[in-house]
Amino acid sequence: MTEERRRIAVLVSGGGSNLQALIDECAKPDSPARIVLVLSNNADAFGLQRAAKAGIATAVVNHRDFPDRSSFEQAISRELAARDVEIVCLAGFMRVLTPGFVENWHDRMLNIHPSLLPAYKGLHTHERALADGMAEHGCTVHLVRPALDDGPLLIQAKVPVLPEDDADRLAARVLVQEHRIYPAALRLLAADAVTVDGEQALINGRPGPLIWTDAD
Ligand code: GAR
Repeated sequence: MTEERRRIAVLVSGGGSNLQALIDECAKPDSPARIVLVLSNNADAFGLQRAAKAGIATAVVNHRDFPDRSSFEQAISRELAARDVEIVCLAGFMRVLTPGFVENWHDRMLNIHPSLLPAYKGLHTHERALADGMAEHGCTVHLVRPALDDGPLLIQAKVPVLPEDDADRLAARVLVQEHRIYPAALRLLAADAVTVDGEQALINGRPGPLIWTDAD
């Protein structure tokens, strides 16, 4: 089975709790995916330690070492090619990628975002959802397109906003759901259960996204 698994790279900038969820998923004997590389732009990212502990190869490509975005991305591309990577997972990777790089990974690159896209693209999603008095918030795994936090939606998890919530409490409950939907979405993509029609993801032939609640 090992050789049939899709070869995955995970790109992280920080703590890597989503990376850990992906590592745990890919450790399951029936996983269709295998993480062959964890790459960070930040040598101090705790995610690199998580990868090393799991025996996964790591690479650091520090954007500060490059004169521009495209040479930074060329260095990333060399690392991905050296490991024959087939699918890229962005997991808290906090660098904006150029359209050229993104299109090289068309329908083969996933991102997790802490909102119910298309609502609240960008940063400070929890603060903004609270400020707007939203009753519901959540997270999304999507295929990556050149525009920020854009692309066909695979799975969303909804989280009720509670009266006592502040941004940290809400973020913590959303993060629990991120750790559920990201492994599930990677499993679907790696198992070839995802197709794209126009800009709509189809999951096992049915229009996405799958919607999960925290009660699922
Ligand atoms: C996660 O909440 C992820 O959704 C968010 O960064 C955090 C990374 O946490 N990503 C974005 O905001 C991307 N737009 P982690 O390092 O513990 O996985």
